[in-house]
This record gives sequence, structure tokens and C-alpha cells, in this order.
Amino acid sequence: MSPAGPPPRGSHRSPQGEGTLMSPAGPPPRGSHRSPQGEGTLMSQPMSLSPADNGNSFSEAASLQMERLVEDFGRMYRERNDALEEVGKAHHEALFRLSLAADLKDDDTGVHIIRIGFLAEALALLLGQGKKAAGMLRKAAPMHDIGKIGIPDSILKKPGAFVPTERAIMNEHAKMGADILGRSRIPLFQLAAELALSHHEKWDGSGYPSALAGEDIPISGRIVAVVDFFDALTMDRVYRKAFAYETALEMLHKERGHSFDPGIVDTFLANADALIALRERINDTCPTFTELVEGI
Ligand SMILES: [Fe+2]
Ligand SMILES: [Fe+2]
Repeated sequence: MSPAGPPPRGSHRSPQGEGTLMSPAGPPPRGSHRSPQGEGTLMSQPMSLSPADNGNSFSEAASLQMERLVEDFGRMYRERNDALEEVGKAHHEALFRLSLAADLKDDDTGVHIIRIGFLAEALALLLGQGKKAAGMLRKAAPMHDIGKIGIPDSILKKPGAFVPTERAIMNEHAKMGADILGRSRIPLFQLAAELALSHHEKWDGSGYPSALAGEDIPISGRIVAVVDFFDALTMDRVYRKAFAYETALEMLHKERGHSFDPGIVDTFLANADALIALRERINDTCPTFTELVEGI
């Protein structure tokens, strides 16, 4: 290469050792800077162009660029996570509202599903579950009856006993709920689908839709079954008045080992005062969806 010509991009030294970046006749390399005094490029300061210095300059530029890349990736990662969280929240709220619509079909206030969330969380904690698992249950349990959205009011609000065909239609709500919720890969909705499907299974195997028995029934479904039973008994329905707490506790005890997991019933009964106080507090404060998600 001619000493007067620019070096090819990326080359440092010709095979003959001529035409290096230090060549006085060559243009400054891309990205080179002038001295603070405005005079002299890197070429006029051959001492700074020793191979060692070149190496250092490259390292500094590269590490600056790396820093910027890491910052950019960090920001993109945070923005992606924020966006996913927003989508998850919107998804949750949409399904919660659908559950509320289903609940309003047979509960005038719609607070039943909120109570189920908080009672299921409290019972899970009493049973020794961790805070995170119990919190997931608080958020998932209100969706247990989302499938009732597909049940005709003539059946849902029917006073008195169902004939077999009506019972079969009513029982469909467990599977319908699981179908609605189970289309998501988000763990919260998978849990909600699991308990929607299993909250009418019975400990003795006489429940529906799969006649599961004992510990084959997911723990989420066993917990929600107990709080759902107790809460439903103690609220007014279109076809009857609410039972007193004491009566409902007796009815729950009667189902110990039949409909419900005996260990869960025992824990509920042993902590009935605290659970009833929590139920009353939910009635008084009517937590919002955000409070349900974040806890109170
Ligand atoms: Fe149900
Ligand atoms: Fe319910």
C-alpha cells in the first residue's frame, strides 16, 4: 500500500509493515479525535498509537458500546415485562368481570366471588401453604363459577330441586368454566381452570364432572369447595334465606369426609371465628378488583 493512501478499513499493517495508522500521510482513522487544542490528530501523536494504546482505545470504545447495549437491553427487558404484566392484568380483569357477570345471575351483590378469593387464601395459609400459593388462590378462586355464564337463568334461578336433565345442564358449568379459563398458558388461569373443574368433586368420589376421590382432587378444588359451600349457605339465594353461621358450620361438619376433605373441614372449623370475621370484613369493605389482586 502507498504510504500516501488510506489504509483499507480494518487493516492495521501491510505485510511489509508500511502504511500503518501511524502513517503521517494517511487520513485519520474513523472515530479518531483531535486533541483538546484542536491541533493534531492521532497521526500527529505517534506516541499514542503504540499497539498497546491502540488496544486500550479499542477497549474503551468497545466497553462504552457494550455499556450502552446492556442499558438498551435492560430497558427493553423492563418494557417487555411491564407490557406483559399489563396484558396479564387486562386478561385477568376481563375474566374476573365475566365471573362477576356469572355470579350476578344468582347473587344480587356479586360479593360472593370476592369473599371466596379471600376465604380461600386465608384457609390455604391456615393449612400451611406459602404466601405466594395462597395469594394465587385468592386471585384464581373468584373465577370458580365462570362457567355459569353459559347456564340458562331458568335453571340457575330455579327454586326447588332440579329434574335430572336440569341437573345435567347445571353440572356442565364446571367443564365450561375450565374451557374458558384453560385456554391460557398463564399459571394464574391454569390454576383457575383447575379449580373451576374440580370444585364440585367430592371426597367420597360422588362429585362431578370426573368423580375424583380423596387426594386425587386437586388441593385448590378441595379448598374452594369448602369455602364455597360455607359462603353459599350463609348468603341469601333467590330460592331461600341465608342460614345462620352456626347452622352452616354444623352442615359443614356433617359433610366432613363425605363431600369434603376432613383435614380441610377440621382446619376451617378450628378457625371458624377468624374466617367468619374475615367474611364480615369483606362484606363491609367490598374490596375492588385491584384490592383483590394486591391483597388487603
Ligand atoms: Fe360451581
Ligand atoms: Fe360459588
